[in-house]
Amino acid sequence: MYRSQTCGQLRTVNIGEKVTLAGWVQKSRDLGGMTFVDLRDRYGITQLAFNMEENKDLCEKARKLGREFVIQIEGEVIERASKNMNIPTGEVEIKVSKLDILNASKTPPFTIEDETDGGEDLRMQYRYLDLRRKPVQNKLMLRNKVALETRKYLDDVGFLDVETPVLIKSTPEGARDFVVPSRMNEGQFYALPQSPQTFKQLLMVSGFDRYYQIVKCFRDEDLRADRQPEFTQIDCEMAFVEQEDVLNTFEGLIKHLFKAIRGVEFEGDFPRLSYAEAMERFGSDKPDMRFGMEFVNLNDVAQGKGFNVFDAAEVVLGINAEKCAVYTRKQLDALIDWVKRPQIGAKGLVYVKCNEDGTFKSSVDKFYSQEDLKKWADKANAKPGDLLLVLSGGLNATRKQMNELRLHMGNELGLRNPNVFKPLWVMDFPLLEWDEDSERYHAMHHPFTSPKPEDMHLIDTEPGKVRANAYDLAMNGVELGGGSIRIHDRDLQSRMFDLLGFSKEEAEAQFGFLMSAFEYGAPPHGGLAFGLDRLVATMGGSESIRDYIAFPKNNSGRDVMIDAPSPLDQEQLNELGISID
Ligand code: AMO
Repeated sequence: MYRSQTCGQLRTVNIGEKVTLAGWVQKSRDLGGMTFVDLRDRYGITQLAFNMEENKDLCEKARKLGREFVIQIEGEVIERASKNMNIPTGEVEIKVSKLDILNASKTPPFTIEDETDGGEDLRMQYRYLDLRRKPVQNKLMLRNKVALETRKYLDDVGFLDVETPVLIKSTPEGARDFVVPSRMNEGQFYALPQSPQTFKQLLMVSGFDRYYQIVKCFRDEDLRADRQPEFTQIDCEMAFVEQEDVLNTFEGLIKHLFKAIRGVEFEGDFPRLSYAEAMERFGSDKPDMRFGMEFVNLNDVAQGKGFNVFDAAEVVLGINAEKCAVYTRKQLDALIDWVKRPQIGAKGLVYVKCNEDGTFKSSVDKFYSQEDLKKWADKANAKPGDLLLVLSGGLNATRKQMNELRLHMGNELGLRNPNVFKPLWVMDFPLLEWDEDSERYHAMHHPFTSPKPEDMHLIDTEPGKVRANAYDLAMNGVELGGGSIRIHDRDLQSRMFDLLGFSKEEAEAQFGFLMSAFEYGAPPHGGLAFGLDRLVATMGGSESIRDYIAFPKNNSGRDVMIDAPSPLDQEQLNELGISID
């Protein structure tokens, strides 16, 4: 028996008991005649006490223990003289009578403590050591709870967990595929699934009625804080449903998770916004609803006064940063520099300070009178003490820039409290999106999404105006999940591939299996997928999903610990019939 208890278990009720513990040496302190060692495992820390007078040899052995040594001890639980009420085991310690070193450890390259001195790269290289740290372990424990509660909820309402293959044929979800060469079919490749989309639809055709899977998905796309090349979805599909059924089911899941895990209860139904309204008011399809600062269109009050930049612009948009008229010249210059960064791409930023005495001070005073500026302030509902920030240009670009500026101001003003959770359904996405580069329509969600019946008359004349039965769940500025009601009719699916620029042959070659399935009694169906990594990170109050993944990739898509990706042996390449150019 390696241990009788864990390092997080012992309390004053155990005083007098003989115990055996095993774990890692967190740290040790020599205080005159006593040596204290903190013994750590996943469950906690227990203090070990060694007394020089009572057992010199043992105490000397303890003094030689290095950080992260793995040891086993036997001893008696005693009351601590100086109690540490900050940890659950802090009222007791172990008077050690036997010490075995199970394994020594090199000095770790960074400290294994809540706050570590290790940089990101080093911690990624030694991820197995980083994972020993309590804050990192807590994140993975949160992930475990979310997955467990998800399974409980979905099982309770009749969903079946069905596995789908990982070696498949490309599904177009908007990113590039990772591909896998086939040895047995030389010159041919599998693709790793960007999602199990077509399979879950086929399971509906097969009559499974309610499917879910917590499943790895793979997308070869540029990485960001909320994107990994392999990530996990809570992927779901339901038959015989309308949009409302899907939304209710998964609103229920999110409510259950937050209540069971974070003790957060959402009141009433989640709010909803149409995509069009979200874009108009926040310039984003995943607006952060923890704060206001909505966009105000200033075209009618800012144009026609001789300021060329605004006159030539498609839109002039403002936001009101409350109580920010106190911003200094230096702070305003910093904001201007911020919007001009290439990642944001604005040409400039106009500000209007609403002074406490009712006057206005702007960066465009030359063109606008006090009365003009008052009109801006009135439109934006700005009060004395507030600061208006104004951007202009093309509609889409200005909305995008203003969204970034709004979030930046939200951060600066502390309006994005990570312990406040504001869900929002974004609905009625456009079916198609025009892609300037390829000069053709792309599916905004994916090609299996059904158009809204009431917009079907536009499909031949103005396809860009057709809205889809598609929805996203956003929370705190993060897209947590998305889905749609699907097409279940062969002809409509085939029409959709036409619109997306597929020839009949291409559509048949890539999706013939799905369209054939639709000819054998496909039920109406729809579903959704949540990004598990993003959901857990949001619940944990973080925007970075990497910390919530045990072994993540870095920004270049590399696993620096195992050093992947890496070249293949010539022999392996030969076997696959591949030569590297
Ligand atoms: P979608 O592409 O919107 O939909 O993906 C669903 C959710 O998966 C998460 N996600 C990611 N998380 C981390 N890294 C990534 N690279 C990444 N890409 C996506 C997001 C997103 O909301 N088959 C459809 C779902 C459906 O229609 O049912 C799909 O995959 O949280």
